[in-house]
Formats: sequence, structure tokens, C-alpha cells
Amino acid sequence: MENNNWWKSSVVYQIYPKSFKDSNGDGIGDIGGIIEKLDYLKDLGVEVLWLTPIYVSPQRDNGYDIADYYNIDPRFGDMEKFEELLDSVHKKGMKLIMDMVVNHTSTDHKWFKEALKGKENPYHDFYIWKQGKDNKAPNNWTSKFSGSAWEYVESLDSYYLHLFDKTQADLNWENPKLREEIFKMMRFWMDKGVDGFRLDVVNLLSKDSNFSDDDYITPNRDGRRFYTDGPKIHEYLQEMNEQVFSRYPSSMTVGEMSSTTIENCIRYTNPENKELSMTFNFHHLKVDYPNGEKWSLAPVDFKLLKETLFDWQVEMEQGNGWNAMFWCNHDQPRSLSRFGNDTKYREESAKMLATMIHLMRGTPYIYQGEEIGMTNPNFENIEKYRDVESLNIFNELKSKGMEEKNILDILMSKSRDNSRTPVQWNSSKNAGFTDGEPWIEVSKNYKEINAEVEMIKENSIYKHYKDLISLRKKYDVISMGTIKTIMLEQDKIVAYIREFKNEKMLVVCNFYGEQVDIFLDMDINKQQFIISNYDFCRLQKEMTLRPYEAFAVMI
Ligand code: GLC
Ligand code: CA
Repeated sequence: MENNNWWKSSVVYQIYPKSFKDSNGDGIGDIGGIIEKLDYLKDLGVEVLWLTPIYVSPQRDNGYDIADYYNIDPRFGDMEKFEELLDSVHKKGMKLIMDMVVNHTSTDHKWFKEALKGKENPYHDFYIWKQGKDNKAPNNWTSKFSGSAWEYVESLDSYYLHLFDKTQADLNWENPKLREEIFKMMRFWMDKGVDGFRLDVVNLLSKDSNFSDDDYITPNRDGRRFYTDGPKIHEYLQEMNEQVFSRYPSSMTVGEMSSTTIENCIRYTNPENKELSMTFNFHHLKVDYPNGEKWSLAPVDFKLLKETLFDWQVEMEQGNGWNAMFWCNHDQPRSLSRFGNDTKYREESAKMLATMIHLMRGTPYIYQGEEIGMTNPNFENIEKYRDVESLNIFNELKSKGMEEKNILDILMSKSRDNSRTPVQWNSSKNAGFTDGEPWIEVSKNYKEINAEVEMIKENSIYKHYKDLISLRKKYDVISMGTIKTIMLEQDKIVAYIREFKNEKMLVVCNFYGEQVDIFLDMDINKQQFIISNYDFCRLQKEMTLRPYEAFAVMI
């Protein structure tokens, strides 16, 4: 494989620094804490670390509201500490990618402060301003964090666009000066030696210039069709590639794609188009959103999950695109609580979920704590929540008359804070995360579920992840192979075949906590099990899978 595609055979580990490890007792995870845990990450075998934003920020949205792209927020450390981290990561043979938020900045950013000074100020046009209509917002678009997407500024008698919180003002990518500033800033980090970027909501950069009202029928009548994969998005990403990534040929980039399409993701990631290395899409995680609605409770629609995953697998392969594979991140509840069983079959289901995703075609991502089987914390009152999205929706649903108890049930399963509780390192106070008061409460189950236990125990979830990571290095078929789904008619399992040169691998996963009979309609020439979450068995045409059983076998 050409060296520039090294990320196809690597596994990425996502660090949410605020909740990873605190090194100075202020209750907030920091760069020093990451340095302390590098040996742990090295032992796990991951090659790439992705840090969510650590730049100077008022932290309204935990760093996704950047006030200064060139400096480290003092809560996390300083530039010297960051350089120490980068150096240590490289010395251990790992790579580090930064999270880059270029769809918006914090309203604390100096550009925005200048922009507020008036229309003549050169920075005014770095943001998106529109006149109101009949004393109302310019159009009916809504913010992804509740309410209108427009905020009125009296002194300018004008509104600015914010697709997220009102302190996250959208940047105007139409302005070439803005683009130049952004590319210069990205090169600053690449010159420092970082190995690439995760690009936040990067398919939202190009807005349709009409800014029309959205008269779409529900769901999603929020304006998204006017700025998702917008008119100039491929042009902008090609320019970014030319101005930044192409100058660092071994860098990797992963774009976070909000409500995108397979067609666009092929364009974003097919190497011929020179845009990005790979994309995150979220369609497979919307399978418990009834009618596209996140804030209501519904079981996982397994059929839809399976169809969605395979549509993306197959079509991205046909279009020579590349997927980032994941179950969880800092915006999603814990995958084990959502798709597995976090009590009776915690180990089996955690391993099944990992096996399924890691052996598909694409680059797998592990979200901190997933490798030790962390669960949702089940916060029972609103005081425990910290996330701006959760707090806003709580107020919105309450004002619409929903009972507090019902709202809390929804948050318990859907809130982003579910995955933001501190990493459980050991059974000491605060799970070994901090000596102080953690910024968000530690999940109560840390005495049983923690990294120390996982590292000692035989056949732990952690060891299973470790095995999956090392298998990726051993068998090219995992990173290079084609994928074909089989046994589609089976409504409780996921099964697929990967093939590359003379390697052929079968993966079978039972998605349910019950036995399932299967019939393997294929020739089985050899039987070399390479991973399983139970004792190995014999591959036979007729088999009974145990609850959440998952295995991969070379056939
Ligand atoms: C992305 C981030 C999320 C953030 C949002 C706005 O979706 O992952 O955490 O709130 O963008 O920047
Ligand atoms: Ca700290």
C-alpha cells in the first residue's frame, strides 16, 4: 500500500480532553493528563489520536466555539505543553490529528468583535449578515441547538447566522480573505507537525445565496437543504486541499458530514477529486430517531441499521470512497447502552459491536472509554447535565408542556453528556480521573467498570479491542478487501465476506441477546478463526449462535 494511505490500515482513538484525564486537580482533563496516558494508548495499539478542540474558547460548546485558533486554552495547558505532547506521541510511533472548526467561530473571536464594529470593517464580511423581514429574522431556519438560526444585533440593525449556538457565528466562505486566513491557520498547525485534521461539520460551509425560507414538509424543515453539501462545497474543499493538505502529502483528513449523501461522500473521498481522506456520516446512528426526530424514545430499528450500513459500505466501495467507521463519539450516547446490552451481556455485546465495525471496509474509530465498555451514566436530574444542546432542549420541551420526568428519560438515553462523563481509570475516588471535583459527574459504575480491571482481566473488552487492532496489521483483507453482505434475510444477524487476493474472511455477528440459528450457504475450505467473543466453535452449514456471538474466520 502506498505510504500516503497509511490511515487505511490504522485505527483512530478519539480523545475528548476535558473528560480524559486531569493532571492538576482542577477537575478538567488536560494535555498533561493525555501525556500521562500515552503508554496506555500505545499498549492498546491505536496509531492515531484525534483530539477534540483544545484552542482558546469560552467553552459554551466545549471548545467547538473557538475564540483563538492559534493558542491553547489555559484550561488544557499551553503551547509548550502541546508541543511536548506532540513530540511524545511521535516518539511512540503514533500520530496526532487536531479538530478543526471552520464553519463558525465563537462570538468572542477577534474577527467577530471587529465585525460588530460596522459594515465598513473588513472583518464584517467574515460572517453572514442579513436584514430582517417585517421585524423578524431573515428566514425561518432553525439552529441545531434550538430556536432561530439568526441573532439580531441592534447596533447594526442586522442579523448574523448561527447554525449552532448563538455564540457560534457562521463564517462567510464566499469571502476569499476569510478562506485565505483559514488556510494559513491550518498550515500553522501542520507546520507544527500535526498529522492531519478532523474537520467539524465541514459539509455545511457553503450556503445557498438566496437564503430562502424552508417550506419543506416535516421532518427537518430547518433550512438544512440550503446549506448541507451546498453549492460550492466541493470547490472549497478542493481549494483547502490544494492550499493545505496537498502540501503535506502524508497527512490524513476526516470530514464530519452532517445529513449528507453517499454520492457527496464519494466525491469528498475519492482520491481523484483531491478533497478529503474519509468522511463520518451519521445515517446508521439515526435508527432510533422516529421520523427523524432525535428527542423522543424509540427502539433501534435493526433492519434499517443493517441496510444503511451496507448501502454505505457497498456504494462507497463502488465509488472508490472511504468511510470512517464508528458507533460513538462525543455527540452520541454510549454505543453499548444504545445498541448492546449494558448489564447482562455487557462484555459479549461490547465485543460484538467492536467486531462488526472494525472488520468492515473503512477506518475504525474508538471513542475514549468504549474500549473498556463504559455505559451511559443515567443522570436522574437536570443539574447533572452540562451540554448546551441538552439544556436547551430541556427548556424547549418544558415550555411546550412536556413533563419533566419524560424529558429526563429522553436525555438519559439521548443526551451528548452520556459519552462525556470522565474516563474510568480505576476504582479510586472519581475513578482516578481527578483529585479535585470533576466538571461532570463520574458514572456510578466505575468500581466495576474501569481500565485497571480491563487490563488485568483475561478476555476483557479491552483485550478484544487490542486483538482487533492487531489483526488489522496482520491481514490485508481487513483494510484492503472488498465487502459483500450475506444472509440478508436473517433478521437478527449481520454477516459479511471480505476478500483480497487469496484472503477470504467471513464475519458473523448476532445483534441480539438470544440464540439464533443460521444456515451458511457457502463452501468452507478452511476454518481459521481469528477472533471471537466466545470459545471458538466449528464452522458448519447449520449453526446456533449464542447471545451476541460474533466471530471472524478465514474461509
Ligand atoms: C459537531 C461537533 C459538536 C459541535 C458541533 C458544532 O457536530 O462534533 O460537538 O457541537 O459540531 O461545532
Ligand atoms: Ca486540569
